[in-house]
Amino acid sequence: MATSNVDDVKSQEPARTFTLEELQAAYSHWSEGKKGPSPLRPRDHPLLPVAGGRNVLISSALPYVNNVPHLGNIIGCVLSADAFSRFCRLRGYNSLFLCGTDEYGTATETKAIEEGLTPRQICDKYNAIHKQVYDWFNIDFDTFGRTSTDEQTKIAQDIFWKLHKNGLLLAESMEQLHCGNCNRFLADRYVEGTCPLCAYPDCRGDQCDKCGKLVNATELLNPKCKQCGATPVVKSSDHLFLDLPKIQPELEKYLEKEAFGKGMWTHNAKLITQSWLRDGLKPRCITRDLTWGTPVPLEGYTSKVFYVWFDAPIGYISITANYTKDWEKWWKNPTQVEYYNFLGKDNVPFHSVIFPCSLLGAKDNYTLVTHMSATEYLNYESDKFSKSRGVGVFGTDAISTGIDADIYRFYLLFVRPENQDTSFSWADLVLKNNTELLNNIGNFINRGLSFLDKNFGGVIPEMKLIDEDFQLLASINCEIAAYVSNMEQVCLKEALRDILAVSRLGNQMMQAAQPWALVKGTDEQKIRGGTVIGLAANISLQLSIMLLPFMPHYSKVIQQQLNAPDSCYYLVEYLICHLEAGHKIGTPGPLFRRIESAEVEDLKKRFAGKPAPKPDIPAAALSPEELEALNKEITSQGEVVRSLKTQNAAKEEIDKAVAVLLGLKNKLKLHGGAGDSTKAESNKKGAAKAKGGQKTPVTSG
Ligand code: 2FM
Ligand code: ZN
Repeated sequence: MATSNVDDVKSQEPARTFTLEELQAAYSHWSEGKKGPSPLRPRDHPLLPVAGGRNVLISSALPYVNNVPHLGNIIGCVLSADAFSRFCRLRGYNSLFLCGTDEYGTATETKAIEEGLTPRQICDKYNAIHKQVYDWFNIDFDTFGRTSTDEQTKIAQDIFWKLHKNGLLLAESMEQLHCGNCNRFLADRYVEGTCPLCAYPDCRGDQCDKCGKLVNATELLNPKCKQCGATPVVKSSDHLFLDLPKIQPELEKYLEKEAFGKGMWTHNAKLITQSWLRDGLKPRCITRDLTWGTPVPLEGYTSKVFYVWFDAPIGYISITANYTKDWEKWWKNPTQVEYYNFLGKDNVPFHSVIFPCSLLGAKDNYTLVTHMSATEYLNYESDKFSKSRGVGVFGTDAISTGIDADIYRFYLLFVRPENQDTSFSWADLVLKNNTELLNNIGNFINRGLSFLDKNFGGVIPEMKLIDEDFQLLASINCEIAAYVSNMEQVCLKEALRDILAVSRLGNQMMQAAQPWALVKGTDEQKIRGGTVIGLAANISLQLSIMLLPFMPHYSKVIQQQLNAPDSCYYLVEYLICHLEAGHKIGTPGPLFRRIESAEVEDLKKRFAGKPAPKPDIPAAALSPEELEALNKEITSQGEVVRSLKTQNAAKEEIDKAVAVLLGLKNKLKLHGGAGDSTKAESNKKGAAKAKGGQKTPVTSG
């Protein structure tokens, strides 16, 4: 598994020289900026879009209710979305940040059986756990809801009826495994058996962990119900399909013009979506034979519920509807609302294809996704997070580690898997804490404020800026502008490095000017010392503003130490002298603490879990079907590599894709195969196995 935490610190650029205009602008922002209008707006609920304003709707993927999120889940959506949403508030945008638990489906039913509770009780229990974990991590949702509500039923059924009216539903009988003992149809992941492709005996119902291929549960050899171990039988059942091929042209038009055209899409989100479209969309089953879900209202199907992946994204809308009766101002307002999706890459097609198609098909003027920020995976040390093996830190564990939530936030955002998989590593967390937080930011702020306290009674002295200060202001403004631009593009990692760069500039100023020596010198030197300290206090304030999306708690602590009024907590592209001569700061104190290696050694042991079972890979020859599938994968990966190269993607990204391609080619060589084929099978996941019969249109009336 290729994981990398490269680009640890921003490369030190050579000091820039600025034009006279730039220097003058920096000075006038510094001295006059405070008089300018503040973009700050009150956070009065319910937050609603404002005509003519920048209206930003932000959702983070709704976590499944039946488990406790781990650090990878947390950085994958809620934490990234929180940092972005806090940035939007600092900029004064009209933003709404929503999330909630994804509560319906087999996973909840199964968990309920396991814990001897009803699905409702399971949802209540875990919804509360999720809330508690996110509260602890300082995730500041505007609203955190859930999918199992009356609003959900109302809105999901309304969308369904509109799709029905618009002739976008098809009916077909499907074969599914049914466990007589449990008396239920088994969702793919509740069956296991022998892989029909490579004979691996512990194959899952949707995908084989050994050969990696997608499989149809009905084709498993020796299938077993995961719940009770009984052998399920194939039964048929009538289902409804969303006619995606019919909606595809409209989706493509929308994506090209509005989303890819105007929005910010991570590379993976775009690539995955394009590959689905290139393969041509297939009708998708939107009903399931379950009880815990949104009921299907159509005659003949009323014993069924909607498939979670049709239903869950509608949760974003119903959560908003539970938050405000004016929900349509967000959701039926595509020209005035920009909609940001935060999610893990495995969720991309559901958000970029299926959900937009449901909304487009409803023809009800819904707001569609404009920006998509999809993360890669975060690994734990060099392993995968695993609840069953006890590997990695889960939300509820983090609380008991003695490491502050903000330190986790900082580190997770520092190693955010933005362009490739990365790893959470305790040793690296210690390193980043002790170097970047303690030695860089903490040292700069604490040294400056303690000095101000001791030598000036905590009162900002008169400041007389000289040429080199204008240079410093201009350099800092470059970093702030880079930060704003990175945040706008949801390049959160880069933005964090811009903060560290500002702090480094502050440290360099202190080191070069040596105010502790100046205050002992001539009157002129004393003034110079005071100027440097006044600058340091204002740079500290700027750091606390920039840190707010990343470390809200410490941002607040710095603000308190500075005794800075709330009114200066907004973000513009330049440094303003908010703390003028005469301002009295609060009580300075150390911000961060050193984390000792011994401390994390214990944590490392505690969360190391049991080693993963080694899959034994028999060197069996590949069947003609497997060979064809492998060839398809090679062709598709080749396309990925080509497209990365044409788009001048980052070298490490290309290298990673090439490595995957070489791996596949080696596998082919190993098994003596050759040949060529056409396309990837990316469109297959979750597609129901139809009996081979015709799908019939479901007409209204
Ligand atoms: O992958 C998951 O965790 C899903 N529960 C995400 C759902 S996102 C949205 F569609 F609700
Ligand atoms: Zn069973």
